[in-house]
Amino acid sequence: MILLFMYLFYTLAGFSESFPKGTFDQQTSVRKYDAQDNIQDSVRLSEYSRVAQPLRNRTDFVTSLSSVSPKFAWQMGHPQQQMLGSAGTGETVSRGGIPVSNSFGSKTFPQAIIIGVKKGGTRALLEFLRVHPDVRAVGAEPHFFDRFYDRGLEWYRNLMPRTLEGQVTMEKTPSYFVTKEAPLRLCAMNCDTKLIVVVRDPVTRAVSDYTQTLSKNPGLPSFQSLAFRNSSSLDTIDTSWSAVRIGLYAQHLEGWLRHFPLSHFLFVSGERLVADPAGEMGRVQDFLGLKRIVGDKHFYFNQTKGFPCLKKPEGSGRPRCLGKSKGRHHPLIPPEALQKLRDFYRPFNQKFYHMSGQDFGWD
Ligand SMILES: *[C@@H]1O[C@H](CO)[C@@H](O)[C@H](O)[C@H]1NC(C)=O
Ligand SMILES: *[C@@H]1O[C@H](CO)[C@@H](O)[C@H](O)[C@H]1NC(C)=O
Ligand SMILES: *[C@@H]1O[C@H](CO)[C@@H](O)[C@H](O)[C@H]1NC(C)=O
Repeated sequence: MILLFMYLFYTLAGFSESFPKGTFDQQTSVRKYDAQDNIQDSVRLSEYSRVAQPLRNRTDFVTSLSSVSPKFAWQMGHPQQQMLGSAGTGETVSRGGIPVSNSFGSKTFPQAIIIGVKKGGTRALLEFLRVHPDVRAVGAEPHFFDRFYDRGLEWYRNLMPRTLEGQVTMEKTPSYFVTKEAPLRLCAMNCDTKLIVVVRDPVTRAVSDYTQTLSKNPGLPSFQSLAFRNSSSLDTIDTSWSAVRIGLYAQHLEGWLRHFPLSHFLFVSGERLVADPAGEMGRVQDFLGLKRIVGDKHFYFNQTKGFPCLKKPEGSGRPRCLGKSKGRHHPLIPPEALQKLRDFYRPFNQKFYHMSGQDFGWD
């Protein structure tokens, strides 16, 4: 019996590898975009924590295989669909020499999405969440509700990892929060989707955003010449510059609240995520209806870096930490420019505190 299962299994795994690469072009484009966003450590914990765990030993494996056999058989009858799936999430691990392709469960639309904001700490939050055994998330940013909406909902669903009953499917694309069309589109998929927004002081966020762009494009004009219409007078803020515009949280939230009730949102403080990752993760897990599993024991504070990091499973590569990539030097920005910006954001921040019912203490 075991041999039969193993034979079936090898056949499938082999087929997976021989499936033409061209089919996955869409995946490539998603990863390309992903690389543009600041993924400082693209090491995936998922291969270890998401796939290996449920299939810890052979008994486990055979048990789960028999329990899902009707689905398994169905998938064999539709090899293309099945293979797209396993290749899409790239989850093939080797344990004790047995290749394990994760073809269990089914792909569902995400029940929760991290919709923003850029440079808020969304990558870290997602990686922290992936430690949870009941969270399965797309590694790349799908950019479906902004860039690739015309590819259709099935394309989107196919990007999702397979989940078992009771697991939460997630993705994160920080640009959704500032995309006008995103709320309506997301609601058209499912108005019950839970929405997580990681927010951070808009001034430090803008500087961090600018610093990231500068590191890719050293010829960039100064921060103040982009943030102000006239950089010698520093009178008028240029709100058309994305680094400034993204921080107008109240304005963006207004668009979302036309389609989703406030109770569907969780606002995560980017500052608290750094100061107290376990505490903030507690709120996130409660919001998602998950058992509080990710907590203090999963984090350590790297003194050199000055940021919390995730304890990694043995041999899983670089640690995942919050905070800036090392070696990225911060540009000198005149303090009066930062003060003007701070004054500019104050009323918007107040409005955002009022709308969200949370004081983030940025002023
Ligand atoms: C293997 O998995 C089965 C089923 O989950 C469990 O009962 C058994 O204790 C596990 N054995 C080892 C060595 O982990
Ligand atoms: C920019 O500000 C300076 C100083 O106030 C002023 O002299 C100059 O005319 C302004 N330039 C423009 C294009 O408004
Ligand atoms: C802490 O961060 C520094 C700088 O990024 C890095 O070189 C070092 O390996 C890290 N230490 C640990 C234990 O993660």
